[in-house]
Amino acid sequence: MKVTVVGTGYVGLVTGACLSEMGNHVLCLDVDPEKIRVLKEGGIPIYEPGLLEMVQRNVAAGRLEFTTNIEQAVAHGTIQFIAVGTPPDEDGSADLKYVVAAARNIGRLMTDFKVVVDKSTVPVGTGDKVKAAVQEELDKRGLKLDFAVASNPEFLKEGAAVADFMRPDRVVVGAEDERAILLMRALYAPFVRNHDRMMLMDIRSAEFTKYAANAMLATRISFMNELALVAEKLGADIELVRQGIGSDPRIGFHFLYAGCGYGGSCFPKDVKALIKTAEDAGQPLQLLQAVEEVNDRQKLVLVDKIVKRYGADLSGKTFALWGLAFKPNTDDMREAPSLVIIDELLRRGARVQAFDPVASHEARRVLQDREGVHFATSGAAALEGAHALVIVTEWKEFRTPDFDALRSALADKVVFDGRNLYEPELMKTLGIEYHGIGRA
Ligand SMILES: NC(=O)c1ccc[n+]([C@@H]2O[C@H](COP(=O)([O-])OP(=O)(O)OC[C@H]3O[C@@H](n4cnc5c(N)ncnc54)[C@H](O)[C@@H]3O)[C@@H](O)[C@H]2O)c1
Repeated sequence: MKVTVVGTGYVGLVTGACLSEMGNHVLCLDVDPEKIRVLKEGGIPIYEPGLLEMVQRNVAAGRLEFTTNIEQAVAHGTIQFIAVGTPPDEDGSADLKYVVAAARNIGRLMTDFKVVVDKSTVPVGTGDKVKAAVQEELDKRGLKLDFAVASNPEFLKEGAAVADFMRPDRVVVGAEDERAILLMRALYAPFVRNHDRMMLMDIRSAEFTKYAANAMLATRISFMNELALVAEKLGADIELVRQGIGSDPRIGFHFLYAGCGYGGSCFPKDVKALIKTAEDAGQPLQLLQAVEEVNDRQKLVLVDKIVKRYGADLSGKTFALWGLAFKPNTDDMREAPSLVIIDELLRRGARVQAFDPVASHEARRVLQDREGVHFATSGAAALEGAHALVIVTEWKEFRTPDFDALRSALADKVVFDGRNLYEPELMKTLGIEYHGIGRA
């Protein structure tokens, strides 16, 4: 099948690569010439395990191409995926300007039947706006061309995006047009060959499903974070509580970790957008508002512990910081808790020696030349000359470090662990002062 993917970011590039892997001929469009240059030269602009090899393989086979040429992109695919960003507007609602611009381009240039599929996370009702935008452009041209609109929200997890796309738990498709349904079934059949996991529904329900999923996941995290704070007051251990409740199949173990807050390009903005959508609909989501507030506070929980230990003025103190990306296996720094923590440590006069296995480059770009931040080339190098260690992202290589070297390197032998990687008892026997989240 001929497929165009509009927007070649985390979602668009993974979608394009995985669809081409199944034999489709995919053309990925982006308005960012730098991204397309990197891709055309055989690289990828993001870090995502397994993606580079897949992109290179399919480019070599002639099934995956990249362009900045809108005419070429619109002409190419019968299916036109829209996978552009939907950042939060000032009032928290999703800004649809990129989605609508992509839809207008399609209406402005199409010459035959197209299925316009929204893969970006968009508020309920966006399908109608996309349809209207395409139709308006066709009307301007005085053309009567057939097209269909569908919704296909993406549930991939950054860091495991290729595996998630290739073996999805479910494929949600919102479509009402018979031709669109047939084409989407054919496109996804290879991904759900083992047993059908495509869920067909109306467009509004599909759009809502994506927000509902992220809202549920964010709620689980904030729920555990809030319980962790109570556990600390009560002398209980949130890790034991987690296992105690996670073993109930109605609850399950996934997404039940207490930590230093969720970040990333999805949860914060999607929670905000859903709150706004519900408010506009006259049905405010009280629970979700609390989820957001709890998360904002949780991003500072490590700094609170540092201040309790060292006092409000941190001048003269140096903190090693392990993990900058918002989660492991990605270089994505969007809304990362590390940014809030670094900001607050610097504001209080501290110095930060940060290390991340892949996100340092991106963090350097985001933080620019913030005075007081130094980027170390390894976890061990970050510890040199530091008073204490702050763990923000649970990369695998931080899970079993050389504890003797860690203790010797840290002047105060203190660890603030925002991801509960270590056992408090073990730390005690090692002579390390340990501050986890919600640990007894
Ligand atoms: N990142 C994730 O893990 C994830 C998961 C599921 C859903 N989503 C959703 O998918 C959408 C995209 O997210 P992302 O993380 O891939 O964003 P991204 O910022 O990485 O990529 C978006 C790309 O779209 C390009 N773009 C913008 N306007 C364009 C236009 N008119 N034509 C062509 N290209 C254009 C941008 O240059 C950018 O490269 C968002 O709605 C997001 O909420 C993201």
